[in-house]
Amino acid sequence: MLEIKNLSVCLKSKANKTYTLVKNLSYKLEAGQTVAIVGESGCGKTIHALAIMGLLPPNIKISQGEILLENKNILLLPPKERRKINGKDIALVFQDALTSLNPVMTIREHLLEVFADRTKLYLDEAEEEISKILQQVELPERVLDSYPHQLSGGQRQRIMIALALILNPKVLIADEPTTALDEDTQKQILALIKKLQKKRKMSVIFITHDLMLAKEIADKICVLYSGIKLEEGASNDIFANPLHPYTYCLIRSIITEETVKGKPLFEIQGMPAKNGTRFYGCPFQNRCKKTTKVCIKFQPSLEELRPKHFAACFWAKSVNSQRRQNEL
Ligand SMILES: Nc1ncnc2c1ncn2[C@@H]1O[C@H](COP(=O)(O)OP(=O)(O)O)[C@@H](O)[C@H]1O
Ligand SMILES: [Mg+2]
Repeated sequence: MLEIKNLSVCLKSKANKTYTLVKNLSYKLEAGQTVAIVGESGCGKTIHALAIMGLLPPNIKISQGEILLENKNILLLPPKERRKINGKDIALVFQDALTSLNPVMTIREHLLEVFADRTKLYLDEAEEEISKILQQVELPERVLDSYPHQLSGGQRQRIMIALALILNPKVLIADEPTTALDEDTQKQILALIKKLQKKRKMSVIFITHDLMLAKEIADKICVLYSGIKLEEGASNDIFANPLHPYTYCLIRSIITEETVKGKPLFEIQGMPAKNGTRFYGCPFQNRCKKTTKVCIKFQPSLEELRPKHFAACFWAKSVNSQRRQNEL
C-alpha cells in the first residue's frame, strides 16, 4: 500500500547548517496492516509523518528518498496533484485536537469544510455523509452544533478521527492520538481506531512513544532512535526476542504491576544526542552497555538477524539468540 524508501529529512538552521532529522528510513505498510513507529520524544516520528503528508515546515526538507503510494512515488507529483492525496488517500490525526480545531467554528462547519475543499457533493449529500461518520465515531448528532471547547478531550479526538476518515482514506497516520487523554478514554479511542480500521480495511501508521501501546495495536514495530531505524519486526517478536539493546531498554522501562507496587522504574541512562551533534557509529553508543570500539567507528547497517526481524547492531549480530537473551 505504502512504502517509504531511504527517506532522509533535513533541517536547515538560520546559520545555514544542515541537520538530519530522519536518516535513510525505509519500511513497508501492507493493505490493512498496522505499523507502529516507536521511539523517545524528538526521534523524528512527527517529522516523518509530516514528510509523508507533504506538510513539512519551510525550513525542513526531504533530502532523499521515495514515498510510494500503491507503487507511485508521490514526491514526484506536481503540488496540486500531491495535495489531492491528503484526506482522500492518506490522512493524519494529531495528538492535540484542541489546537488542530478552529475555536470559532462549529463541528458541523469543520466537517463541511472537508467536503467543500475536496468534493463536488451537494449540501444534503454532505450532511448525510457527516451523519454516517458521526455514527462510526460513536458521537451523537448534537455535537455538530458545538464548538471545540465545549467537547471533552475524548469527543474532540473522535471528531479528529471523523475529519480524517470522512473521505475514506486508504492510509491513516495516527500521531500519538491518545497521548493527551486519560487512561479510560485512551482505551476507547484505541478500540475505535482498531474497529474502524477493520471495517474499512485501512492501513494504519501508529506513532507512539509507548511500546506497550504499539504492541497492542500494531502488527509490525519500527524502533526509531535519533531519526534512524534500529530495529524492525513483528510486534510479538520484538517483545519476545528484542535484538537491539535500545529496544530491550524500552521494554524494561514499561510500567508494570511491580513498578506500580513500588519497584523502581528502569531508566535508560543519558540522553539522545542533540540535533547537530556530529557522531560516527551507532547513534545509541553513548547510552549502550554493549558498546565496543566498532560501534563508535562505524554505523551498523540493518540486517535480518532472525526471520523477518531486523536490527542495526554489531553486538546483536555477533552473538547467538541464547546469549542475547542471557546478556541483555
Ligand atoms: N519546526 C521545527 N524546526 C526545527 N526543528 C524541528 C522542528 N520540528 C521538529 N524539529 C526537530 O526535529 C526533531 C524530531 O522532531 P519530531 O519529529 O517532532 O520528534 P518526535 O515526534 O519523535 O517527538 C527534534 O529534534 C526536533 O527538535
Ligand atoms: Mg511527535
